[in-house]
Amino acid sequence: MMPQVVAVDRPRLAALLMQEEARFRDSHPRSRALFERARGCLQDGLPMPWLAKWAGGFPVFVDRGRGASLTDVDGKSYVDFCLGDTGAMTGHAPDPAVVAVRGQAARGFSFMLPAEDHVWVAEELSRRFGLPIWQFALSATDANRFAIRIARAVTGRPRILVFNWCYHGTVDETFAVLVDGRVVPRPGNLGPPVNPALTTRVVEFNDVAGLERELAAGDVACVLAEPVMTNVGIIHPEPGFHAALRKATRRHGTLLVLDETHTICAGPGGCTARDGLDPDLLTIGKPVASGVPAAAYGLAAEVAARLSGRIATGDCDTAGIGGTLAGNALAVAAMRATLSQVLTPDAYARAIPLAERFQAGVEEVIGEFGLPWIVKRLGCRVEYWFSATPPRSGGEAIAAADPELDRFMHLFALNRGILLTPFHNMALIAPQTSDRDIDYHTEVFRAAVQSLADRASTD
Ligand SMILES: Cc1ncc(COP(=O)(O)O)c(C=O)c1O
Repeated sequence: MMPQVVAVDRPRLAALLMQEEARFRDSHPRSRALFERARGCLQDGLPMPWLAKWAGGFPVFVDRGRGASLTDVDGKSYVDFCLGDTGAMTGHAPDPAVVAVRGQAARGFSFMLPAEDHVWVAEELSRRFGLPIWQFALSATDANRFAIRIARAVTGRPRILVFNWCYHGTVDETFAVLVDGRVVPRPGNLGPPVNPALTTRVVEFNDVAGLERELAAGDVACVLAEPVMTNVGIIHPEPGFHAALRKATRRHGTLLVLDETHTICAGPGGCTARDGLDPDLLTIGKPVASGVPAAAYGLAAEVAARLSGRIATGDCDTAGIGGTLAGNALAVAAMRATLSQVLTPDAYARAIPLAERFQAGVEEVIGEFGLPWIVKRLGCRVEYWFSATPPRSGGEAIAAADPELDRFMHLFALNRGILLTPFHNMALIAPQTSDRDIDYHTEVFRAAVQSLADRASTD
């Protein structure tokens, strides 16, 4: 009989976490030395602020990555389930992208001119997502900023609407949450240009009545949404939610922007193709060029028609969309290679069953130990969740979060050669991930749970 660990013993968890932190510090001397050096030249020793989320006190410094494996400067190899938080969902350095980047590099990086690749990529994105007209950007953040600007331009409305606790990149209008029904800056929102309540309406995901109420104000240019929320844990839409969202946005003259940057894990055309969704604009970044910085946004024919003539003017360089390096030759060559040879139906046919295997393994351990935890999955993205019921909304998800337990599970795995994303316990499965990698994760997950349970078994 396995011990029943229903509630986590908090003092034991704190002690275990300290042990794991010491183990991490001692076994990563080179990363630690680089972090100390970085304190003299990088803000808080980090090139980007969210690296502070990595458990362990300092991040692992990378030497190289290939496929589903990553090696750090201490010579340690990891099964990589973080995959650059989706940037490398293709696996690191897939051969077709390497060949395309090498070939293009020898012919020039950036011209501020189109090539045949731009046309090919736009045609392929149309084929996948159903929107006929495309523009390029450097990051998904920029794609979202530009989509919002276009929505405001064509509707003449000032506000956007987002779902509580969404994440769409560093987009000012989206850093807003609900507190007691009021829109306030999201905690940590650094230097907001204006109070986000002036730019943004916020409702909970799956709240159709709230959506109707906020759209009825008539000032919302667009709803910006992930088709399935992924950044506050995976939150699936309830049956009928997308149909209601589409109907309400149409009725109130609001455009619908779907951000498929993470939900591309559901299939080659994201949730839009898989679930037959019909957005007015669509944004995509991260893995679309195998992790080479690149993004794109698509426009439905009607939006493109409403925009027509407003961009190609003498003042086009100050339209507020674009960017000199957007659509650079290197990025677009990598996009073409990725869309034609890497993010293919075959790649999903390999990765999704592996994600199902990951889910089954973790569910088995949860069952063995009688834990009130669940596993959620979207295509090749899967995560375990420390609550017995799936959250319906961002507000419910935040209320169920357990950052200390997240940190422990994450660091326990890291110390045993497994990388999970530092944001909740999420794993992305690459086509190159093996059955062995998945089973090794299950084994390590079981050991982590066992260490939490040991005290319970002796009590
Ligand atoms: C759904 C979604 N959209 C957009 C972004 C922004 O991507 P980037 O940071 O590459 O600009 C993210 C980043 O995590 C995201 O999760």
